[in-house]
Amino acid sequence: MSLLLLIVAAYLLGSIPFAIVTSKLFGLQDPRQYGSGNPGATNVLRSGNKAAAALTLLGDSLKGWFAVWLAMRLGFEPGEAALAGLAAFLGHVFTIFLRFNGGKGVATALGVLAGVDARIAIFSAIIWLMIAYTTRYSSAAALAAAIAAPLASLHFVGPGMATGVLAAMSAMLIWRHKENIARLRAGTEGRIGGKKKDAG
Ligand code: G3P
Repeated sequence: MSLLLLIVAAYLLGSIPFAIVTSKLFGLQDPRQYGSGNPGATNVLRSGNKAAAALTLLGDSLKGWFAVWLAMRLGFEPGEAALAGLAAFLGHVFTIFLRFNGGKGVATALGVLAGVDARIAIFSAIIWLMIAYTTRYSSAAALAAAIAAPLASLHFVGPGMATGVLAAMSAMLIWRHKENIARLRAGTEGRIGGKKKDAG
């Protein structure tokens, strides 16, 4: 398989919006219609259905992990495998199935990190958990983890294409949180486990 074909396949895999698939499976409202309006695990949790949120987290993470794993399995270099992961991440964020208007990419990014090097994922997940536990803000935790990820990659993997790709992914993830950043600054950001309100 050529790298280009792999990237296209990874993009399409990443495009599967598990928040919406899972919500349909559980008979829940479309997550784009309540809370932050984001089709992601945090927002599905606002529906009150923990199983649906967990399944969203699992599905969105696995697609990122699988893209990297498959690339490695096919014999691509780590940097190229990270590129396949980035394609899956971009698929989630700009999904072809939702008119290129997808999620923020946190779970998919976690899967990509796990595929590149489990230690990066573990380190970033610990940062996420620490910030989420202390602030109850999923977005603040994601932003801190996004900053930590390329630094962890620099430490565990070293400078190179894989670390550069992960840094680009983090930059995109932070950019996707620009509305959350504005809400955090204004003190209006919803906390984890907060009540479901109409999107807006
Ligand atoms: O996983 C996305 C999270 O960082 C923020 O989600 O729904 O609060 O915008 P949300």
